[in-house]
Amino acid sequence: MTPEPPSVLVVDDVEANLVAIRGVLDGVGCNVVEARSGNEALRLLLRRKFVALLLDVQMPQMDGFEVAGLVRSHSATRDLPILFLTAKHDTEDDVLRGYGIGAVDFLFKPISPVILRSKVRVFLDLYEGRNNVEQALAELQVAQSQLVQSAKMAALGELVAGIAHEINNPLAFVTSHLATARQNLDLAAPVIESCSSAEVTVGWTKALDRLREMGTGLSRIANLVLQLRTFSRLDEGVRKQIEVRECIDSVLMILGHRLGERIQVTLELAGPDLIECYPGPLNSALLNLMTNAIDAITGPGTIVIRTSTKADWFRLSITDDGVGIPDELKDRIIEPFFTTKPVGKGTGLGLSITYSIAKRHGGQLEIDSERGRGTTITLTFPLDLGASVRRA
Ligand SMILES: Nc1ncnc2c1ncn2[C@@H]1O[C@H](COP(=O)(O)OP(=O)(O)O)[C@@H](O)[C@H]1O
Ligand SMILES: [Mg+2]
Repeated sequence: MTPEPPSVLVVDDVEANLVAIRGVLDGVGCNVVEARSGNEALRLLLRRKFVALLLDVQMPQMDGFEVAGLVRSHSATRDLPILFLTAKHDTEDDVLRGYGIGAVDFLFKPISPVILRSKVRVFLDLYEGRNNVEQALAELQVAQSQLVQSAKMAALGELVAGIAHEINNPLAFVTSHLATARQNLDLAAPVIESCSSAEVTVGWTKALDRLREMGTGLSRIANLVLQLRTFSRLDEGVRKQIEVRECIDSVLMILGHRLGERIQVTLELAGPDLIECYPGPLNSALLNLMTNAIDAITGPGTIVIRTSTKADWFRLSITDDGVGIPDELKDRIIEPFFTTKPVGKGTGLGLSITYSIAKRHGGQLEIDSERGRGTTITLTFPLDLGASVRRA
């Protein structure tokens, strides 16, 4: 689909002048829209966008200067370039007045076709340049926000890695001291067991019980630390083999407080145990998809995480039985900044980042959803990442 050419508005009360200008601008690459009075021009200007306004100075009722003044005073048309077309050769005052109102240029009748055409071309070039700049700016803003979001994820990763490291050191010596304490207590066991004091034997049994519980607590902490480290993956940029299960568990651990008793998570892992991927980004992708699934479930609900392979591609899907996505929004949800969540809750970046992560793996994001029934979002990428990079 080619976009419609930009339009130029020509305002003149004399029909013959309009016809002449239309002829001159034929083939310049713009639509020529005609107005026969200032009022008609203003109506058109408010209704659609123009690249430039060619304005006759002398018109009955409202003259060109008045029209220009109104155009300049309205926020939607303030920046519209105005080119005055005037029949008076000698009134310097008029020309100064016109520039004062904000005219970009004057052309004197009879108008030279070559000059008019080249001036209009300049306006068209300016317009196109401005459009390009605006588009580049919008793209930059999107890229910047994604970067900020990725930087946040990376900072979170670093923080988590730091905490895991700090916990790990005391954990290691407490674990080892616990083992020493146990060995030493075992040495004393025969003596204590033969002791006749009930108080001592009951206390002894209790101490052994407590030690066992401490061991259980410590292994829970150790497991937590391991999952925190898995989540943080400081090796973001490197392609690596990872255990899929570890990656899923670490994300579930991070989201544990949001899942609570309310949401049941089931795993159906039919895919390979080990996959090659960019571990940090893959964690972020899974975290984003899981967060969305949790947000979509209003009451109690279920999330199923599935892995499988299909034609040498790895598939990771998250299915929720939440609110679903209305058909008319399906095309939009990947757009950066598109969110249906309240301000402060949604950034609208989760899926666009997840999409770029899929792309980075040479893969895709599939969305399947039914309003009121639930949503499945599947991240797929080739099992042999090297091959996909070589192909790309
Ligand atoms: N699992 C899902 N169920 C229902 N709607 C979803 C789901 N995942 C995403 N969406 C819709 O897509 C929008 C964009 O998601 P996302 O890019 O992650 O941004 P955010 O979560 O910040 O809104 C969400 O606001 C929501 O409307
Ligand atoms: Mg989200």
